[in-house]
Amino acid sequence: MRFDIFSVFPSYLNSLQLSLVGKASVAGAIDVQVHDLRDWTTDKHRTVDDTPVGGGAGMVMRADIWGKALDTAFVEDVGVENPRRILAIPTPAGHPLTQEICVDLAERCDQIVIACGRYEGIDSRVATHYDSHDDIEVFEYSLGDYVLNGGEVAALALVEAVARLVPGVIGNPESLVEESHGSAGLLEYPNYTRPLDWRGESVPPILTSGDHGRVARWRRDEALRKTALRRPDMIAALDASTLDRRDRAVLGQYGWYWPKNPDVGAHPVRPVTELSATPEVASHYSELARRTFPDACPQDMLASDIDAFMDAHLGRDMFTTYMESADWLLIGLRDTRGALIAYSLSSIPDGDGVAGEEDGAPVDTVLAAGPRKGPLIELSKFYLDRQWRGSGLAGMLMTATLEELSSRVREWERPYLWLGTNTGNKRARSLYTKLGFEKVGNRHFTVGEQNNDDIVMARTLDVTY
Ligand code: ADE
Repeated sequence: MRFDIFSVFPSYLNSLQLSLVGKASVAGAIDVQVHDLRDWTTDKHRTVDDTPVGGGAGMVMRADIWGKALDTAFVEDVGVENPRRILAIPTPAGHPLTQEICVDLAERCDQIVIACGRYEGIDSRVATHYDSHDDIEVFEYSLGDYVLNGGEVAALALVEAVARLVPGVIGNPESLVEESHGSAGLLEYPNYTRPLDWRGESVPPILTSGDHGRVARWRRDEALRKTALRRPDMIAALDASTLDRRDRAVLGQYGWYWPKNPDVGAHPVRPVTELSATPEVASHYSELARRTFPDACPQDMLASDIDAFMDAHLGRDMFTTYMESADWLLIGLRDTRGALIAYSLSSIPDGDGVAGEEDGAPVDTVLAAGPRKGPLIELSKFYLDRQWRGSGLAGMLMTATLEELSSRVREWERPYLWLGTNTGNKRARSLYTKLGFEKVGNRHFTVGEQNNDDIVMARTLDVTY
């Protein structure tokens, strides 16, 4: 790989003779040539700039000087037939430079010519002109959303980031995989060395355990955590199908979820809680409720009974009522694209009573027989769209539900939340157990003509499970 760097401050680039890049040049793995742009001027003041056409502040670098200089680089023999040449122009108005781009440049380019602008930049015709050459690709790039005095620092950054990816420059190519922005798509885990204790800070003990499997897992957990906190954009870009159960647990703490069996290329999402849905979206709730309610019914229940129940309780009008009444709390979760993927519906008694009594046998008797006293809120509906079951999203929905209910009934003494779930629905029962509910009794629940046996479960409102 050959680099040609043009600048009006060539000595700025002397540091390229140091360290890894310097060594790689001496060893011949890369060839770095620095040029003084003023060598292509003809006037006594060695002028490279002029005032902007059309007016405005500052000076613009002249296309004719740049043209003469760059032409000399693009005719250089770089040791391959039909070389792939890039003209890289650092500018705060360029594409953000990323590791992915650097990998691409290192892998498929033979020559990178860097034109360091100063002042207000380089006459725009320079980029247009070289872009029209079939054998030259123009790449205007930026180091970040801030303005430097010129392109030299950005040239140093590009040479260093690309050169270290050229085969033979770095001794241990494996170190390129785990580093930040490596192929794992995560920021790198924290690193430590001796002394193991320093100013009261010790190295995490797991790193000295000698258990390579646990060390690797710990490092991945830390990489996930760091990335979730600092670069949510990188989490959103991960391929969810490559993430495991433990990744799910770690990222769930930061609000990231993905369907249980994601398609290849599906990405994690950070669902948004909808606490005060308005009637315009009642149909979203009704559609989700009708899609999910049958899954909680026993197999032998008549489809006509299920339909009649859904017509009576899960229609658009009913959801409008739930939204508008203080006796109900409706909470939804939406994915990144705004689709409703889960909801809960709680019925709040207006005093010290028991919500949900009219739905079945007297639960209050069941509950009163136990240690529970105080007002009882009914968790009437708690549903996730099918592909989201087993994703951990139920925990998020439950937390949001408990928090909101707690804030609504703050003045109540020891309120409890209860629910009824069909005896045969083992999946639901184990989920609710995980979410802090315990069985407190039984009840009958009528859908159509059919009397169903339900298990009654209950829990306090504190968000612990
Ligand atoms: N020149 C001036 N500011 C720059 C930036 N942020 N990135 C690249 N080149 C620049």
